[in-house]
Amino acid sequence: MADRIGFVGSLAAMVSDDSPFLRACRLEPHDRVPVWFMRQAGRSLPEYRAIRGTGSITEAIRSPDLATEITLQPVRRYGTDAAILYSDIVTPIEAIGFGVTVEPGVGPVVARPFETAADLERIRALEPENDTPFVLETIRNLVGELGDVPLIGFAGAPFTVASYLVEGGPSRTYARTKRLMYADPDLFEQLLDRLADLALASLRSQVAAGASAIQLFDSWAGALSLSDYLRYAQPASRKVLTGIAETGVPRIHFGVSTGELLGAMHDAGADVVGVDWRVDLDDARRRLGDEVCLQGNLDPAAVLAGVDVAVDRTRDVLRRADGHRGHIFNLGHGVVPETDPAVLERVVEVVHEEGRVR
Ligand code: CP3
Repeated sequence: MADRIGFVGSLAAMVSDDSPFLRACRLEPHDRVPVWFMRQAGRSLPEYRAIRGTGSITEAIRSPDLATEITLQPVRRYGTDAAILYSDIVTPIEAIGFGVTVEPGVGPVVARPFETAADLERIRALEPENDTPFVLETIRNLVGELGDVPLIGFAGAPFTVASYLVEGGPSRTYARTKRLMYADPDLFEQLLDRLADLALASLRSQVAAGASAIQLFDSWAGALSLSDYLRYAQPASRKVLTGIAETGVPRIHFGVSTGELLGAMHDAGADVVGVDWRVDLDDARRRLGDEVCLQGNLDPAAVLAGVDVAVDRTRDVLRRADGHRGHIFNLGHGVVPETDPAVLERVVEVVHEEGRVR
């Protein structure tokens, strides 16, 4: 299996190794600032709303033709330098039967939340070819369709996925998650370790099927102090990121409100660190040094304020990135559904026309 992953992974990477996106990830010289957007596929696009229908997102993810088309839509419209697989961070845990649904406008909801050691048994190992064959088929379709545009595969980081399992749904405070973490650190560690295995198995299969880079979303890690992050969350994320290293694909690590955690998220084993809009990019660069690629960080809300504001703020991000070859332009978090796609089209033009790489 390891040989196959190594072989297919490096083959997939070879297809588009010269892309500005992959070169930026690796701090290699390239001639334009690469740009893509988290949540670039989705309800902000009229073409998405037209084909998505009213069913659950899980049904769309389980339909390779639909998921392929949805992944391609923003690449066609914006000319982004990377595609991100249309799936969700709860796809693997849903696929092994934990009992998760994704409610429109809400997010993942869990019927029977994780509470005790007995619930560990509900998290069995992922067998990607049996449990998520639709993901692999979507990726194989996409690699053929995308040509030189790299495909980013992804997984939810153990802490963030655990927060949904323990809370039973989205949360503002993560009170139940942290209560379990503080009250029963051993159980919390076992939970995160199982979720690390799940994420790693999923990511390995995505790379074997043709993903050229991976992103580990620890969206809600910013709920933790640095010392708690290091103790409770980082070990499981490190298991995922160091485990995927053997494939050779770049590893992006992202979270929201993680200004205090940027160094620790890099140390967990990332090649690229995602920065939300709360830390100016020049400051993030001072915190992390020159030997890492940064991804970000236009405020998604600035895009809602119209073309002039968005262009202005885009130029500010480019100025703070200062032509460093390790910069991938993105928003500081996902595209919000109210976004006017015409504004993002202009943002991509400005990044491509005005961005300079030293
Ligand atoms: O363009 C892309 O980024 C494509 C794929 C993608 C989705 N979810 C599709 C989706 C990715 C990378 C994700 C990751 C994800 N899912 C994260 C990490 C990224 C982040 O935003 O921090 C998280 C926390 C989730 C959990 C989740 N799934 C949430 C919070 C929601 C939003 C609920 C809503 O309806 O607003 C979802 C549903 C979801 N996942 C949608 C999409 C396009 C919207 C619902 C739909 O179209 O039915």
